[in-house]
Amino acid sequence: MKLEEQYKILEFKDLGDQRGNLVVIEGDGADIPFDIRRVFYIYGSDSEVVRGQHANRETEFLLVNVSGTSKVKVDNGKESRVIELNRPRMGLYLPPMVWKDMYDFSPDSVLLVLASRHYDASEYIRDYQEYRTELAKMEGKAHE
Ligand code: TYD
Repeated sequence: MKLEEQYKILEFKDLGDQRGNLVVIEGDGADIPFDIRRVFYIYGSDSEVVRGQHANRETEFLLVNVSGTSKVKVDNGKESRVIELNRPRMGLYLPPMVWKDMYDFSPDSVLLVLASRHYDASEYIRDYQEYRTELAKMEGKAHE
């Protein structure tokens, strides 16, 4: 599958008024395709740090820089794209089995991550070669 058909860049509505901005993200197909089971956020990573560097066999993610900016490199084993998260209304949806690196964090970056599953270390693939091998196996099965 082409990489553009795998990740999605979403723009959430701003329900704000004169009191300020309000952005709502509801799960289960309302605003994002999955039911939200886990929330975490990353901040205080300096611009030299590269986070992520893994793929997930099962979990779907939605990333939002609610403050500041960062970059996400999304890779499906064949092609890769760099997406800059630079506004609180922008969400990046990532399906399972894409490799991601997060980097270039601004000093004020707060990267909010919504996930479709609870944390389970065994569904993380942290070795790129292993990731490629698993992808090849999945593609082999799909063609059987
Ligand atoms: P890690 O996967 O390295 O974070 P990132 O994806 O930002 O590079 O996670 C760092 C540590 O935190 C690691 O020991 C696993 C743990 N962790 C949890 O326990 N639960 C979670 O939901 C996450 C994302 C990480």
